[in-house]
Amino acid sequence: MSPFAAQAVDTARLALLPLRVEHAEEMAAVLSDPALHTFIGGTPHTPQALRSRYQRLAAGSPDPAVSWLNWVIRLRDEDCLTGTVQATIGPSGHGPTAEIAWVVGTPWQGRGIASEAARGLVDWLDGQAVRTVLAHIHPEHPASAAVATAAGLTPTGEWHDGEIRWRRGHARARASAQP
Ligand SMILES: CC(C)(COP(=O)(O)OP(=O)(O)OC[C@H]1O[C@@H](n2cnc3c(N)ncnc32)[C@H](O)[C@@H]1OP(=O)(O)O)[C@@H](O)C(=O)NCCC(=O)NCCS
Repeated sequence: MSPFAAQAVDTARLALLPLRVEHAEEMAAVLSDPALHTFIGGTPHTPQALRSRYQRLAAGSPDPAVSWLNWVIRLRDEDCLTGTVQATIGPSGHGPTAEIAWVVGTPWQGRGIASEAARGLVDWLDGQAVRTVLAHIHPEHPASAAVATAAGLTPTGEWHDGEIRWRRGHARARASAQP
């Protein structure tokens, strides 16, 4: 069994809810803009394809030492889903290390939602004693760099698949990617 499991996290405006297969239909609409994939690759999923993906994510990492944690971001006042955050937690020489990422649907961008969600996620990880947090950010993606900064990460000089590694804490990472 994975050592970590996603729990609900509340921030001022948002509820981060552990991702469930039932979220796929609403999320397929939230994530339907092809522009969301400029930096993360791929294309938008149909509801059915997203359901299959969420089933794979819910089944968890094949490596029992690695935890795949995923949340949908609910904007409480508008009672709608707006995006996702994720953390892939694996062991490192300095305790557990999380690699985090975020996506916010185009209609909800520019309202501080990704920054608030990423801060909530990093605070939650801190409460789980996961103090080393990484993100990989394309050098020409200032919005994502601003989100990482808001979450307390700073850029390192390290590159990973054409992206810059950002880090909070000091340990070196080992975390396998989610599908
Ligand atoms: C990156 C992303 C999550 C940002 O979502 P968001 O909810 O709009 O982010 P926020 O509203 O919290 O804004 C974050 C910052 O980016 C800035 N920003 C937003 N769009 C920008 C743009 N096009 N150019 C420059 N800065 C921009 C905001 O002003 C804000 O900066 P500030 O904190 O200094 O005011 C969203 O654009 C996205 O999902 N992109 C596609 C997926 C992706 O690339 N994910 C990153 C993988 S790590």
